[in-house]
Amino acid sequence: MLKLGFLVVLAFMGYWIDHNICVEGFGVNWGTMATHMLEPKIVVQMLKDNGINKVKLFDADKSTMNALAGTDIEVMVAIPNDQLLTMTDYDRAKDWVRRNVTRYNFKNGVNIKYVAVGNEPFLTAYNNSFLNLTFPALRNIQNALNEAGVGDSIKATVPLNADVYFSPESNPVPSAGRFRTDIAELMTQIVEFMSKNQAPFTVNIYPFLSLYANEHFPIDFAFFDGTPSPVLDNGVEYTNVFDANFDTLYSALKAVGYGNMAILVGEVGWPTDGDKNANLNNAYRFYKGLFAKLASNRGTPLRPGYIEVYLFGLIDEDAKSIAPGNFERHWGIFRYDGQSKFPMDISGQGQDKHLVAAKNVQYLPNRWCMLNPNATDLSKLANNIDYACTFSDCTSLGYGSSCNNLDAIGNASYAFNMFYQVQNQLDLSCDFEGLAMVTNRNLSQGTCNFIIQTGKYSISHKVLPGIVVLLSGFIFLLL
Ligand SMILES: *[C@@H]1O[C@H](CO)[C@@H](O)[C@H](O)[C@H]1NC(C)=O
Ligand SMILES: *[C@@H]1O[C@H](CO)[C@@H](O)[C@H](O)[C@H]1NC(C)=O
Ligand SMILES: *[C@@H]1O[C@H](CO)[C@@H](O)[C@H](O)[C@H]1NC(C)=O
Ligand SMILES: *[C@@H]1O[C@H](CO)[C@@H](O)[C@H](O)[C@H]1NC(C)=O
Ligand SMILES: *[C@@H]1O[C@H](CO)[C@@H](O)[C@H](O)[C@H]1NC(C)=O
Ligand SMILES: *[C@@H]1O[C@H](CO)[C@@H](O)[C@H](O)[C@H]1NC(C)=O
Repeated sequence: MLKLGFLVVLAFMGYWIDHNICVEGFGVNWGTMATHMLEPKIVVQMLKDNGINKVKLFDADKSTMNALAGTDIEVMVAIPNDQLLTMTDYDRAKDWVRRNVTRYNFKNGVNIKYVAVGNEPFLTAYNNSFLNLTFPALRNIQNALNEAGVGDSIKATVPLNADVYFSPESNPVPSAGRFRTDIAELMTQIVEFMSKNQAPFTVNIYPFLSLYANEHFPIDFAFFDGTPSPVLDNGVEYTNVFDANFDTLYSALKAVGYGNMAILVGEVGWPTDGDKNANLNNAYRFYKGLFAKLASNRGTPLRPGYIEVYLFGLIDEDAKSIAPGNFERHWGIFRYDGQSKFPMDISGQGQDKHLVAAKNVQYLPNRWCMLNPNATDLSKLANNIDYACTFSDCTSLGYGSSCNNLDAIGNASYAFNMFYQVQNQLDLSCDFEGLAMVTNRNLSQGTCNFIIQTGKYSISHKVLPGIVVLLSGFIFLLL
């Protein structure tokens, strides 16, 4: 599992000699696959309160972009995989750049630095669906940026999973890293194009997934505290999978003649629930080691110096697909409601302070849904729990998770409550064929939190009110 085996950080190194003076801090991935999203302006304020000055998005949603306008926060906007086909048409790519990039290019607009073209499009799980689309889309987007006159400051890149490169089983060391055989030629063309445009290589590295995928993976190697059995590579000692993974990519780039290319770690992080290794202690340990490493500017053995990373992720997303595992909904360094989960010293100085929580978050009333203790027809219970969990997030109930110690009654109440909260505490949503009832007693116990959802904020694809006023005034003048 060497391919998946390698998972963690980010580095913005190719041009690091020029850039390490001005590039600092770390970024976060701001995903929005949640039933109840925090208002974008609340999230942006939270970023500012914590001094987080870079975000990576998975689209270019208008309400998000409007909230980022007027801040200095550097932004990576993105084109989802399902739009790659469209972007193989140059006119459509130009249109996309106009509507999602140059549109925000004004004083007090949005500080866009990158356009992510697709998201891990070469994952083997995608069956090559995006193989022939990604490079043409990348080329069109960068060319459109260049043609619009913003190509010097805004670069197109493709966030790739670490499975685009590997080390051979016969020589499983970072220095033997090469691009995956089936896409080696394509990767070389992409790298050549990005290099010509001074765009960085973007890679997602996940030590947690290395551990999750392989029960024999040495757990210490997933963290940064050292290991009794390092990987030896031509006299270099690797004590963590992050470095090993990163340097495998470096070697793959070098082998095709681009050893100087900038590398950006697009995603790195540790989930806090949904698996036996996904918990607060491990996440704390991982981030503590990561930030100490970043603060030291040690880099990796083959790429010493500054490394820039985008953490995955900012806030838990309860509507993410759990096909990869139950942990998928628990990657946030903040909970669903913008509360910090564990102490995290982003300066790397080892001061264990919590991040500043989101402010002015509205919650639904303190009401929970539970199994009615007088319920008699328990034969209906299993189906109703299934139903509740199909339409809400029960991933904390699973093995090794925060609510796995509940009894059968607690399980049912947990599921009912999650559904009730997702449904904004609608009365009808706490019935379950007469098995359920509403209570104002907090049912949380031990590590298991029976949550109250936030007041619903639904993304509205509206233009800024100011623009509406301006436009109608303009139309009025014309009339
Ligand atoms: C780009 O902008 C258009 C127009 O505002 C919008 O419809 C589209 O969803 C945006 N694209 C993305 C990926 O967010
Ligand atoms: C990929 O192929 C497998 C086997 O043919 C299929 O089960 C799966 O649904 C496909 N995945 C996608 C994303 O097309
Ligand atoms: C990609 O294009 C090549 C050459 O046109 C073709 O042979 C191949 O089947 C295509 N692959 C996919 C997955 O569409
Ligand atoms: C359960 O039944 C008892 C005895 O009939 C009654 O006092 C109590 O109020 C009932 N509780 C609920 C929640 O319905
Ligand atoms: C509670 O639910 C979880 C997840 O569905 C299950 O693994 C566990 O066995 C259940 N516990 C009891 C006591 O029914
Ligand atoms: C419910 O209780 C838990 C555990 O004591 C606590 O952490 C949580 O904040 C409480 N929830 C509310 C809404 O008061």
